Amino acid sequence: MKHNIRTLQEMKNTQTPISWLTCYEYSFATALNETSLDMVLVGDSGGMVSLGYQDTSPVTMDEMIQLASAVRRGAPDKFIVGDLPKGSYEASDVDAVKNAMRFMKESSCDAVKLEGGTHMAGRVTAITKAGIPTIGHIGLTPQSSGAFGGYRVVGRSSGELDQLRESVSALENSGVFAILLEAVPTGAAQTLTKESDSILLGIGAGKHTDGQLLILHDLLGLYPNFRPKFAKCYVPEVLRDFSQELLNHSDLNLFGRNTRKDGFHEITRLAVEMFVQEVKSKNFPDPTFSYKD
Ligand code: KIV
Repeated sequence: MKHNIRTLQEMKNTQTPISWLTCYEYSFATALNETSLDMVLVGDSGGMVSLGYQDTSPVTMDEMIQLASAVRRGAPDKFIVGDLPKGSYEASDVDAVKNAMRFMKESSCDAVKLEGGTHMAGRVTAITKAGIPTIGHIGLTPQSSGAFGGYRVVGRSSGELDQLRESVSALENSGVFAILLEAVPTGAAQTLTKESDSILLGIGAGKHTDGQLLILHDLLGLYPNFRPKFAKCYVPEVLRDFSQELLNHSDLNLFGRNTRKDGFHEITRLAVEMFVQEVKSKNFPDPTFSYKD
């Protein structure tokens, strides 16, 4: 079943954890489409893991639309969020609405995400007033982290927690249907999630948020340049079962030709399903993949 804002809000209300993964291209998207994953993010992290930029700054709207369109073709049954890249929304409400609308029309995504809390509330209001489902993104915000002291955990001091709280409130008043917390300590994220009626999703924000986001290339151990603390790779566990299954087939060529279950499509599908089950059972993220308060 493809989710919508109402079914996602029901998951928050019934405390059913939401599973969310990034994806940037067609073939991986087809594997995700065969799983019980709830949401897909075409993140500007695709600029790093798929296009090879050093950070997300150079990513353009045209590139994001190309990536998101491919993901939509591969995952027609998934709720897809397009990530507005740096420079596409900061300058004016007109830019923000124009680019968010382009994303929706040209790539057929279901919602957009943009970075920034209290100071971005005006832009968010403009986008939601245009009828576009929107997710806010606070805590560590990679598009501006260079200017604010690099990649670091946000929310350890009471001052920072208060700022996050203000941002949650400002974004809610601006009409977002969900907010992503990135690199926020477990207890702080739990407090914010309890206080809010909106959906609060986390990446590196501990197990108590309403859902978990992970970068697909971290889940698959594909990106060699950097591995954040919260990045769990599911391939080693999955490979054991996958190899066992292959032992049951004497002609692997024939098995692959008939089923397409002989390679990375299947490994991806199994790894994603394992992630989803760990999110649902609240076994991910354990403290190894979370930040302490
Ligand atoms: O681009 C992306 O994948 C993101 C996550 C890092 C949160 O925005």
